[in-house]
Amino acid sequence: MTENKIRKFYIETYGCQMNFSDSEIVASILTDGGFQASGNLQEADIVLLNTCSIREHAEDRVRKRLHYFRSLKKKNPGLTIGLLGCMAERTKFALMEEEQLLDVIAGPDSYRHLPGLLEQAGSGQRAIDTILSADETYADINPVRLDSNGISSFISIMRGCENFCSYCVVPYARGQERSRDPETVIRESRDLFIQGYREVTLLGQNVNSYFWKEGNETVNFPGLLERIAVLDPQLRVRFATSHPKDLSLEVIEIIEKYPNICKAIHLPVQSGSDKILDKMNRKYTREEYLGKIRTIRSKIPGCAISTDIITGFCDETEEDHKQTLELMKEAAFDFAFTFKYSERPQTIAAEQYEDNVPAPVKERRLREIIELQQELSSASNHRDLGETFEVLIEGESKRSDKQYFGRNSQNKVMVFPKTSLKPGEYVKVKVKRVTSATLIGEAI
Ligand code: SAH
Ligand code: SF4
Ligand code: F3S
Repeated sequence: MTENKIRKFYIETYGCQMNFSDSEIVASILTDGGFQASGNLQEADIVLLNTCSIREHAEDRVRKRLHYFRSLKKKNPGLTIGLLGCMAERTKFALMEEEQLLDVIAGPDSYRHLPGLLEQAGSGQRAIDTILSADETYADINPVRLDSNGISSFISIMRGCENFCSYCVVPYARGQERSRDPETVIRESRDLFIQGYREVTLLGQNVNSYFWKEGNETVNFPGLLERIAVLDPQLRVRFATSHPKDLSLEVIEIIEKYPNICKAIHLPVQSGSDKILDKMNRKYTREEYLGKIRTIRSKIPGCAISTDIITGFCDETEEDHKQTLELMKEAAFDFAFTFKYSERPQTIAAEQYEDNVPAPVKERRLREIIELQQELSSASNHRDLGETFEVLIEGESKRSDKQYFGRNSQNKVMVFPKTSLKPGEYVKVKVKRVTSATLIGEAI
């Protein structure tokens, strides 16, 4: 046997689904590069942290985790520690200097260079690559599925973002928007289906602006959705995220047309006030947003609509906040992710506006938003009582080995007594009872 022991890497991921998808790309590149993936931090020779910068809190969590890694490295000085992702890109050398712990720093477009960067670090030199690319999409990389249930998987269809919402760090951390060759997305979806997967979620910061052009052929987002939907009626297709300014009638009609395109749209509104939307550089008004909601509700009855809301953005008054609450009621969101505004260095808001809503006010407004959303989510679940949904079985319920759990097309979790069917199969379930987060039913 060879003297050179194969080095084992362990990846920990923070942030959005795209980051989780990136970790699978990293795992694939490293496996091809002769490294071996490990699910056990204690036995790893290389520890990689794939990080997020979206809010200060996200970075704080990573810093805390680095402190723990410092103690690991004390015990095992040969351990290589690498920082990947958005925080690596945003902070570059600064964090390496500050922490005196990191051996490798690689931004989101540098993952092909990781084997080389790790070699360099292995020979005692610290290595950094945070160059952003205009065309890297990792289209040819076959992701190694990490933490997979073998049933649902994410597929990145584009990278970067050029919307420059004034609060947001993503355009700086992820660079220019670029779409991936549709053929590679279709191939990946088909391969997953053949392996037994039954659900793919197409990912991008703004999937509605997906656009591919080669020769005379162009493919837009509804075109791509359709090409994946027709692969097999048993393959569910989801997507995230939709920017309201780009959600077209064409997309809504394609969702309506194919039963296997899930009836769930994540449409982040951020605020209900025109003044704040303008300051956020979102490029739509409250009325335009509500118009899209009305179109979705009329074209796709029963479609779930979820959203993201930021509270306490610069200059947000009580009146602006009330408009957000009013909009939430009018849109009747089924689900919402809610955040306090967190100023991010480099962004337009950080450079030009004052973060002037006091912390206790942000907290109180957030509480009001969360309380209202709980009512709206509960109302949404109660509307489902007595309804029957097709559920993709994902596995045994965490609470009981006599129950299965899965999700309906609307992305709601459903729990029901086990049947003879297996995870990965579809079953019709009638809702008998609801809790705040789950629909409880029986297979029919
Ligand atoms: N591309 C998606 C969202 C990406 S980030 C979109 O445009 O909708 C996910 C969510 O984080 C955002 O929708 C927003 O609600 C929130 N977010 C982004 N920057 C933030 C900041 N500086 N402070 C608080 N929340 C933020
Ligand atoms: Fe950030 Fe706006 Fe891009 Fe979403 S669309 S990632 S919020 S800049
Ligand atoms: Fe975070 Fe980067 Fe995603 S900042 S939300 S990991 S694109």
